[in-house]
Amino acid sequence: MPAPRNLARILGILPALLAIGAIAAAPLQEPEEEEQYTIKEVMKLAHAKDGLLKKVATGKATDEEKQQLLVCYQSMAKNSPPRGEQESWDERTKQLVAAAEAAVKGEEDAADLLLTATDCKSCHDVHK
Ligand code: HEC
Repeated sequence: MPAPRNLARILGILPALLAIGAIAAAPLQEPEEEEQYTIKEVMKLAHAKDGLLKKVATGKATDEEKQQLLVCYQSMAKNSPPRGEQESWDERTKQLVAAAEAAVKGEEDAADLLLTATDCKSCHDVHK
C-alpha cells in the first residue's frame, strides 16, 4: 500500500509550497505599502504652512514634489475618514487626486482645481 508514503511526501513539501507562495506574493504588496500615508501624515506633509500643497499651488514645486503630493492624495483616497460617510470621502478625495494629477501633467487649471478641492474647513466639518 503506497498511500501513506505518498501522503508523507505531500506533507513534506507543504512548507516549501507555502514559502514559495509567500515569496511570490510579497513583491506585489511592498511598493504600495511604502507609498501609503495615514490621513494625519498627509495633513502634515501636504497641508502644513510650508507644505507641498502651497508649493504646488503657487507654482514653486519641483516635479518630484508634485509627484509627492499626488501620492499623498492617493493615500487619502485609499483610507477611510474617522467621521462621515465613505461616499462623501470618496468624492472629495477623487477631486484631490484629479487636481494633483493635473499639477503633475502641468495643466493650466491645476492651481484652481487644487484650491477648490482642498477647502480645509468644508472637509473637516464633515470628516474630521
Ligand atoms: C478631503 C478632506 C480634507 C481636506 C480637504 C483637508 N483635511 Fe485636514 N484632516 C482631514 C481629516 C479626516 C483629518 C483627521 C485625521 C484623523 O484624525 O485621523 C484631518 C486632520 C487635520 C489636521 C490634524 C492632524 C493631526 O495630526 O491630528 C490638520 C493640522 C489638518 N487636517 C490641516 C488641514 C489643512 C490646513 C487643510 C487645508 C489646506 C486641510 N487639512 C484639508 C481631512 C481633510
